[in-house]
Parts: sequence; structure tokens; C-alpha cells
Amino acid sequence: MPNDSGFPARNPETPVNDPDTVQAALAGLLATPKTLPPKLFYDREGCRLFYQITELPEYYLTRAERKPLTEATRFLSEHLQAGTTLVEYGASDETKALGLLRAVGPSGRPLFRTYVPIDVAGPSLLDLTARLAETLPDLTVLPIQADFTRDIALPGEVTSGPALGFFPGSTIGNMEPDQAALFLRRAHTALGPQGRFLLGADLRKDKSILLPAYDDGAGVTAAFNRNLLVRLNREAGADFDQSGFAHRAVWNDDESRIEMHLVSQRDQTVHLARHAIRFARGETIHTENSYKHTPERIHAIAATGGWRPHRMWTDPEGLFAVYLLDRS
Ligand code: AVJ
Repeated sequence: MPNDSGFPARNPETPVNDPDTVQAALAGLLATPKTLPPKLFYDREGCRLFYQITELPEYYLTRAERKPLTEATRFLSEHLQAGTTLVEYGASDETKALGLLRAVGPSGRPLFRTYVPIDVAGPSLLDLTARLAETLPDLTVLPIQADFTRDIALPGEVTSGPALGFFPGSTIGNMEPDQAALFLRRAHTALGPQGRFLLGADLRKDKSILLPAYDDGAGVTAAFNRNLLVRLNREAGADFDQSGFAHRAVWNDDESRIEMHLVSQRDQTVHLARHAIRFARGETIHTENSYKHTPERIHAIAATGGWRPHRMWTDPEGLFAVYLLDRS
């Protein structure tokens, strides 16, 4: 779902010298210090590698989110009005939404009548819609192909009734805190006066747990990071030498975030769109931030977006949190 701040995307391959890719890459590589936007991770190979990451023993996030999500679902089935609309931001597939979509209220009626999956990748939205027509034939699916960091208008019938925004997976951690607040503010407006929000976010914790999750023993995260360069060679006509850059994950304690970098292994020049880009040995391209917010920080960000925390669930080890937000 490529967009300005980066989160999982499921884009089909784009053509060689794709102007958006070139522009996004060039802006970051000509800046000081050099950066690349995390949205560029998620081409087809990047999505495949990210899926592999979620199955790594070191990558605790996906596993840790399951229990709090199940508990939140149980709570919601008792407290949400039957016939609510579920609006998922960045819905490349329905795996995480399915538990919610299958939930029934006290009356025995499905909790959700309508599902609005939002994603920039059209093909995966079509696949998802086709699958749900089979698995949940009574559910109305209204897919929206859009970049969820932009302002998205929801259909009037969604905005006027009860709606639950859904943003799992800690993708919010890829956004700068002010962008995260802006995103939540827009969702607050879009979801309407009966809107609520279910947010999954990784928690701040010791770096002995965090660092291996972003620098795994099998080297999958390193391949995921370096795939950016493979993609730029293919889609932006660049001439990166893969072996010239090493993966590095760092814990930035002051900012409370994991940073991923690609470290130039020597002095070298890379060409992209008629620009010669010089790298000194040891110079890095900063490719991702993954913020690990405390509940207090999430509450502050949510408050700026117009929300107040109603409830929070975590896994038994306190690694990951799911927050239910109400309008404030
Ligand atoms: C999909 C943004 C939640 O930050 O943990 C995984 C992406 N980057 N390993 C994360 C990612 C490196 C992931 N999110």
C-alpha cells in the first residue's frame, strides 16, 4: 500500500522506470542523510519476504497480536451494535479481519454487516472481495482502492451509522508521531459520529528482544531491506550493487524506535535517473522507522487525533497492545 509514510503494500509489479518509484527514491537519496521511504519495500517480492518475516521465531509481533485481538473481538461482540461497518486501513488480505467479521452479537446476529477494506493495491482488493463472497456471503464488501495516508471519504451509509476503524499490525509505528495523529484525525472525521477505532501497536521493550526481531538469524529481514535496491534497479533503472550494502538494525532509545539502514561497504557511486549518487564507506540509507510506543504515548497520539482510550489488551508477556478508542 505504498503511500507517503510506508506500510505494508501488496502492489503488483510496476513497469520499468516507474515515475512514482523514481521520484520517491530520488527525493530520499539526494537528501542528507540519505533515506528511502518504507512504502517501497512492498513490491511482490517484498510482500513475500514480509510474510516470511511474520513467521520467523524472532519476529514476535504477529504472534503476540493474536490473543489481544481475540479478546478485543470478544469484548466488541458484547459492546458493539450489531450491523456495524468494519473499515480496515491497509487491507491487503482479510486474515486479521476474519475473526471480527465472523463475530456475532448477543442477539446472534453478525456484528458486522458491511466491510470496507482500503488498500492501494487494486488486484489484491479484488481477490479479497471474491474470497469473502464465498466465505461470508451475507457480508456486504465495499472495497476502496486508495492510499490511506490521504484523506479518504467513506460512503454516506458508513459515516451515518456505527463504524469501527481497524488498523492492526503496528503499521502505525512506521509513521512519524505527528503523521500518526493526522491519520487518526482523518479516520475520526471519516468514520462519523458513531465511529470507534481498534488499533494494534507494538510496545516499547528491551532491545534484547527488539533487535533480533529486525535482524534475524536467517537473514530474511536483511533480504527484505536489500530488496529495495533490487527494486530500484528494476523499476528505476538504478545500478546498485547488492553486495555493496549491508543490513543494519539499530535501537534509537531517545526516539523509542527501531531504525533500519543499508550501510555502504565502501566508497561508491550509484546512478539513478541521470543522477550520480556518491556514498562514502559507512554512510547509510535510512530505510525504516518502527516506533515502539508506550501506552501513554499512544494515548497522547490518539488524543491529538480526537480519540480517547476505552480499553487496552496485551499478550501475557506484554509485548504487543490492541487499543479500543472512543471519540473524545
Ligand atoms: C509491517 C510495519 C509492522 O515495522 O515491524 C518488519 C515492517 N520491517 N521487519 C514492522 C517490518 C522490518 C513491520 N510493519
